[in-house]
Amino acid sequence: MNCELEKSIIDAGQEHLLRYIPGLSAEELDSFCNQLAAVNWGQIPELAEKYVLNRPEISIPDDLTPAKFYPLKPADAATEELYSAADAKGVELLKAGKVCCLTVAGGQGTRLGFDGPKGTYPIGPVSNRTLFSYFAQSIARASEKYGAPVNWYIMTSPINREATENYFRAENFFGLKEENVFFFTQGTMPAFGLDGKLLLSSKSSLALSPDGHGGTLLALRKSGALDKMIADGCEYISYFQVDNPLVPVVDPRFIGLHYLENSEMSAIMLSKTNPYEKLGNFCVSGGRTMIIEYSDLPDELAVKRNADGSLAFVAGSPAIHVLSRSFVEKLTSGGTLQLPWHRADKKIASLDENGTLVTPDSPNGVKLESFIFDALPLAEKVMILEGDRAEVFAPTKNATGVDSAESCREMLTARNARRLVLAGVEIPYTADGKVDAVIELSPRCVLDDADAVALVKESGLKKIFSGQVVAL
Ligand code: UD1
Repeated sequence: MNCELEKSIIDAGQEHLLRYIPGLSAEELDSFCNQLAAVNWGQIPELAEKYVLNRPEISIPDDLTPAKFYPLKPADAATEELYSAADAKGVELLKAGKVCCLTVAGGQGTRLGFDGPKGTYPIGPVSNRTLFSYFAQSIARASEKYGAPVNWYIMTSPINREATENYFRAENFFGLKEENVFFFTQGTMPAFGLDGKLLLSSKSSLALSPDGHGGTLLALRKSGALDKMIADGCEYISYFQVDNPLVPVVDPRFIGLHYLENSEMSAIMLSKTNPYEKLGNFCVSGGRTMIIEYSDLPDELAVKRNADGSLAFVAGSPAIHVLSRSFVEKLTSGGTLQLPWHRADKKIASLDENGTLVTPDSPNGVKLESFIFDALPLAEKVMILEGDRAEVFAPTKNATGVDSAESCREMLTARNARRLVLAGVEIPYTADGKVDAVIELSPRCVLDDADAVALVKESGLKKIFSGQVVAL
């Protein structure tokens, strides 16, 4: 190991990491040295002190107010006109090939209890098509509909990059052209023990974990994704999470409003169903928009109500954004960007003092992550548009219950049923108003309501019976 690197590690108070080096093979040493060389050792003591040995105080600004947003339904003629102009502008930008999609898929999906990249989780209510397949087919339909390529950028972590790419190859990229799909890998952060010492996952490896979706922005620059966007003339990035198959992969109104409002980073908001719903909250302080995570919003603000009884901090984030490419270029122009770190206490498999790998039963360490929404306060202009929850948000976080694969499939069926009603199809409902059938419309054919109506007309479908399973 080079002396300078060794000195940095010792100076950072992390000498214990060097303990097993004498027994490593040349190959192990080589890979360990590469890993160690990638760590910013100068930063480690400060991070340990600020985030691990001490619990960072979440400071809520005194001037915090709820963020303003454009309502789902225009409330006056001027807004109605603006929305029409936005719809047209969004379509124009899509037709000009200026929009690409970005999916963050680097998370570990531990809550779902699924072994493998989360995007390979089967979600189609009838077909069992996976999350990735859903997005791929929707993107293929969008390209077809607007007559221009919609390139797809997929962020993985070093842990799931290979498995993700192999999966796409095995599925022939779901009919997309390989040149229109760009994988890139986010950065990692070493995990800390509760004593501020970095953890080892083997004698020749740090316990590394993905650095959070805030790592997306720098990873776009470092991977060459931004250069590709420039070369392809893509100016607007439609951003969504891998866990939400209901999301419109491109939404002309949202993209058009982002453009017309000169926004640098835009967001969809949903009206929260209760004060404690697990969604980040859109707020404003010092004229800047920000998201305060559900876990950080003080109780008195969470329950605060307007005169009409509605929640004051009503705007929750489903993590759906449009970013201008120029904004990402600006933020990462120096080749660096440090968004704030957030602490998460986790159970981290690591070597104990005898060099044995131990998987603990309770949190034994700290992972640091940055969040993409912390870029909102850095934007000169932010635009927030209300979304219709039943149309855009069905997160698959857990195996059952709230925000689960089960509830997601139910919501997919419900949206499909609503679209079939538009096409004049009779739908069976249970006494409590749920769709009494399982319905799937192929995302390859159906991007929006108009597509659904066309598909149904072609199929001749008139009625669905109780308990029927239908796939079109
Ligand atoms: C997230 C948001 C929350 C939002 C909710 C909507 C955070 C901290 N909070 O919650 O404000 O209301 O979604 O569903 O994000 N990911 C990476 N790399 C990482 C970590 C995550 O790519 O290092 C990706 C995941 O693959 C996933 C997404 O980011 O697509 C969200 O991660 P997750 O941990 O599921 O966030 P939540 O806590 O559910």
